[in-house]
Amino acid sequence: MSIGKDIELAAELINRGELVAFPTETVYGLGADATSPDALTRLYRAKGRPTDHPVIVHIHDVSLLSEWAVAIPDSAFVLAESFWPGPLTLVLRRKEGVLDQVTGGQDTVGLRIPGHPLALELIEKAASCGIAAPSANKFGRLSPTRAEDVAAEFGDEVSYVLDGGPCRVGIESTIVDLTGESWRILRPGQITETAIRAALDLDSRETGAETPRAPGSMKSHYAPSRPLVIVQEGDLERFLGELASQNKTAAVLSFRQPPGTFASSWIVAEKNREHYGKDLYASLRSLDTSAPDWIVVESPPADPDWDGVRDRLLRAAFRKEGKI
Ligand code: TXA
Ligand code: MG
Repeated sequence: MSIGKDIELAAELINRGELVAFPTETVYGLGADATSPDALTRLYRAKGRPTDHPVIVHIHDVSLLSEWAVAIPDSAFVLAESFWPGPLTLVLRRKEGVLDQVTGGQDTVGLRIPGHPLALELIEKAASCGIAAPSANKFGRLSPTRAEDVAAEFGDEVSYVLDGGPCRVGIESTIVDLTGESWRILRPGQITETAIRAALDLDSRETGAETPRAPGSMKSHYAPSRPLVIVQEGDLERFLGELASQNKTAAVLSFRQPPGTFASSWIVAEKNREHYGKDLYASLRSLDTSAPDWIVVESPPADPDWDGVRDRLLRAAFRKEGKI
């Protein structure tokens, strides 16, 4: 594997059916020609991902939607116009011929135009009209937001990492399903439910956007290797005191400064959801590196605009075992 900024080379490798990691505005993607069964097999193998798990197809122009989807509702074009290129994925009815490896065997396909110039150039230069790209991490782990994070996770199974610097958004795209009678958010992200409603010109009483938010229904995902616990602001000090009294170490992500007595890793986050999202995975990686007994995260604000961040934290925390 090598890292660099050579788009021609990256496109050529994609055309040859190899895997190329590339930057998007959300997280780095692990790209493969979405029309090549061999490339997709390689992709699933490298990620260690179950094959019934669909991948998002990245395109560079709205006109290409019809290469992948049928029965596209007007709302898709409205959302595309409002948010593309950008951190939004639309789930649409798949066109016949779209590979099962892309759709996970479902009759739908996820599509997005990423908001990163290198990604757009790469997709345009590659011969196929779409690049399948899950986040460039092993299945279940934290998504990479820097080229070096990808390099640390993969060896020669990935041919090239196109380096576009740190990702601007930092959490994965908002996914909106448009295949049902009304729209539905499948994964919250930086583009909020409020913004989607505004774009679709819906008033807030109109239902349809029933986000699957229940933590119990979420699989563990986006997880650091150390166990992660989310603690309410008011409980933070007591909780850390309890850990210390048991000689357990903690690494903390909080909105406030560490108490004077705290000697381990502590990252102070800004109470701004976009900045928080941008730094989230890099912060968790850095806390993880200090190998604490617990990664302790102060609960983010309850505001629905923080749904994307909250979703990733809940998944990172979910199913972590161990007694405190
Ligand atoms: O921001 C992003 O979306 C990043 C960048 C690289 O574009 N990609 C990403 O891909 O997060 P991945 O594979 O890690 O997550 C894609 C999610 C999965 O949860 C998958 O189930 C869902 O999208 N998905 C893809 N196609 C779908 C479909 N047809 N129906 C329902 N969910 C779908
Ligand atoms: Mg992922």
